[in-house]
Amino acid sequence: MPHTNTPGEQQKLIIFDTTLRDGEQSPGVSLNNDEKVAIATQLSKLGVDVLEAGFPIASIGDFEAVNRIAKEVGPLMEGRERIGKPMVICGLARATTGDIQRCAEALEPAPYKRIHTFLATSDIHLQHKLKIDRAECVKRAVAAVTLAKSLCDEVEFSPEDAGRSDQDFLCEVLGKVIEAGAGTLNIPDTVGYNMPEEYGSLIKYLVANTPGAEKVIWSTHCHNDLGLATANTLAGIQGGARQVEVTINGIGERAGNTAMEEVVMSIHTHPNYFPVYHTINTTLISRTSQMVSALSGMIVQPNKAIVGRNAFLHESGIHQDGVLKNKSTYEIITPETVGVTDIALVLGKHSGRNAFRERCKELGHGSISDEALQKAFVDFKALCDKQKTVNDADILAILTN
Ligand code: KIV
Ligand code: ZN
Repeated sequence: MPHTNTPGEQQKLIIFDTTLRDGEQSPGVSLNNDEKVAIATQLSKLGVDVLEAGFPIASIGDFEAVNRIAKEVGPLMEGRERIGKPMVICGLARATTGDIQRCAEALEPAPYKRIHTFLATSDIHLQHKLKIDRAECVKRAVAAVTLAKSLCDEVEFSPEDAGRSDQDFLCEVLGKVIEAGAGTLNIPDTVGYNMPEEYGSLIKYLVANTPGAEKVIWSTHCHNDLGLATANTLAGIQGGARQVEVTINGIGERAGNTAMEEVVMSIHTHPNYFPVYHTINTTLISRTSQMVSALSGMIVQPNKAIVGRNAFLHESGIHQDGVLKNKSTYEIITPETVGVTDIALVLGKHSGRNAFRERCKELGHGSISDEALQKAFVDFKALCDKQKTVNDADILAILTN
């Protein structure tokens, strides 16, 4: 299987990684700047198109991280031959002059830079958080995008809490920021409230009804509060989005953001289902996931799709027997496609004789007689009833008993 899927009539999906910005907003996560540079370098090799490196106004450390990534990682081309250009380095800024100027300063050394500015548009946020009316919201959004455009080539605008905003008001604000120079419009479901069909329809509605919609790239940004971030993102692509904002392992605020590996592998396994292709080197997914987990201290749940420890393990005898005969019986992705190479069948009480015989062979007991194998298998099952899994040392002890 190729490591990237093939462009046919499909359009390129821009992968915008926010592991170092929204991902770092995970409770308890704080990365130092060397760790951020290491992750950014790995994300560049992985094939990320746009990297949100941080929120420069947030702290001096954040400013320096964005600045170092802009300088040290921004120009890198290693592993990016399929893409043909370095990553765009992006920084986040609220819709204020101070934030935007600081962001532009941090991004300065990057060959390709983008300012991502945001302002809430939902009535809940306007009334309770910002205490401004809709007219003031439009005014601030336009002023922010105009300023950002004067300091940077690429500007992205996000109407925060778009998932709970009035759709016609969104069309009004977004039409105005397109006129002011925004090239990417990102539609955040900030609180992870939307249902997939609802979010897909929202993107479709905005693309159809915003003045100037055809001039910009539409983007998804979903949170996982209801466990729907990936489903919503995929629905957004079907609705017309051509950029997705994602994090490695789905880390992020509260229940996290959309997991990059889930979106990429959904597209990868369904090359004709989506109107897009990706240019991520999928064989680096596992290594990248492990690096982010180790440096962030965010443990990946064992049954996490694509990158969890159990994602390619088969325990039941029926499944193990099928996989030994032909992997496609129970695997929709080969482990190698995402860079997992050390897969072994897990032996437990659901395992069958074939898997047990296979492990005996791997442990140097391939010439064991049928009778001895049968006895060892009975002992193995008895041990399985006493402990959750049986390791190689246990099997060797049974075989040499
Ligand atoms: O979830 C959100 O609304 C955000 C914005 C800053 C884009 O992260
Ligand atoms: Zn977010």
